[in-house]
Amino acid sequence: MDISQAFVFLFSNSLLCVNGQEWQRQRHFLGKSFHFDEIKNYFPTIKEVSLMVSNDINKELTNITQKQIQVVKTCEKVTSEVAFRVFFGQTSKNITISREDGSTVLASSEIVQLLTDSFRILQTNKLLLLKYMIFKRKSQKIFPLKEEKSLFDRLYAFKETCKKVIMQRKEELIKDPSLFKKNFLDLYLKEIILNKNKEITIDEIIDNFCALFFAGTDTTGNMTGVSLYYLSQNPKIQEEAREEVINILKSRTQSQEPKDLFNSLTFEDLSHMPLIHSILKESLRLIPPAAAVLGRYANRNIQIGEFHVKKGDLVNTHFIYSQNNPDLYPNPEKFDPYRWMNQTEQKSAFHFTPFSLGPRNCIGQHLAIIEGKCMLANYLLNYNILPNHTQEIIKEAKTIYGLCPDNLVYFEIRK
Ligand code: HEM
Repeated sequence: MDISQAFVFLFSNSLLCVNGQEWQRQRHFLGKSFHFDEIKNYFPTIKEVSLMVSNDINKELTNITQKQIQVVKTCEKVTSEVAFRVFFGQTSKNITISREDGSTVLASSEIVQLLTDSFRILQTNKLLLLKYMIFKRKSQKIFPLKEEKSLFDRLYAFKETCKKVIMQRKEELIKDPSLFKKNFLDLYLKEIILNKNKEITIDEIIDNFCALFFAGTDTTGNMTGVSLYYLSQNPKIQEEAREEVINILKSRTQSQEPKDLFNSLTFEDLSHMPLIHSILKESLRLIPPAAAVLGRYANRNIQIGEFHVKKGDLVNTHFIYSQNNPDLYPNPEKFDPYRWMNQTEQKSAFHFTPFSLGPRNCIGQHLAIIEGKCMLANYLLNYNILPNHTQEIIKEAKTIYGLCPDNLVYFEIRK
């Protein structure tokens, strides 16, 4: 794979970067926690965090009728907090990082900032990019620039803190195994302590936390944010989607308050939301957050259709082309979630690949859809989602493919 220096530092021991037997071992271990049935365990956390974020928005809407919303950022508040809690469990609430200036910052905020800064400095600092092109993975050690050094100091501090938290939890669980909970950290530690697994290292655990956080936070936030944008542009579809949620929940509680309705939502309900599922799929078709896979080097000569690929060539594939091909999707620019519901003919799996395909497909795809459905249900119950006509919207490909600027919609409290 073709990976940058920040990528190597953060993820080199993780599922994203390892290959061969090591990848198989890690994928098998992590895969167990991403089965659809296992994700049910994280559902209360997803609901709790979704409610926390909408409560904050409601407070801001106390004295005003409408508020401009940075949709992706708002959804990422949910996805980042969920990623943190699902990985570290209850421990996550108290993890703080000490900065050089003596200040402290919550680890959940620091990782977001670190990931943003890691990619920003490579994209904006030409000297750094040049150094990276010449020295590749060694570049960080050769004439480190001030900005680069400060970033890596913070990255080391973050990883050291994670290490301390993991070691402390390990001690607790060795003393009292009845404390084991269903979160990623405890599952790793259970494997080390009870099953005496010697292959799993602390670095692997830390890097997989960073990898799952990186791979799952912006992507899922973008998918849901973009769906909210399209709902703001299509009020009829929005109303129908809202009815889908209300029809499931209205007989559950006497109170028809959004908060009470949302509290009564069950994991099973999410399987009975065909329109909301189709809205997420249609957003993924039009604007796939991961527009391509990470580049791969061919390990042998191969003929693919008319292309002759030589061993060592860098190969990639872009999902946008097939997913916007008019032969496969008539009127491809149109946001039309019903195309997924009224499907008569079976489409090839290769025509819709936002989560990629094959053995290295997205391990977190079920979790992403569950989070997306939960967030949409909550926002539809609480707010009318109105368009922001003052903005010219463009599609933009950075680390993620998405819409820009982010203040795409207005939320208005539903009466
Ligand atoms: C809408 C949300 C998401 C999209 C569009 C997405 C997309 C993708 C794609 C296209 C790949 C293949 C990358 C490649 O082969 O180079 C991938 C892999 C991966 N994704 Fe996701 N993803 C999403 C959410 C998540 C979530 C929620 C998690 C975990 C919390 C996650 C974790 C991963 C991991 C660990 C891999 C690497 C798998 C491997 O190499 O075996 N993703 N994702």
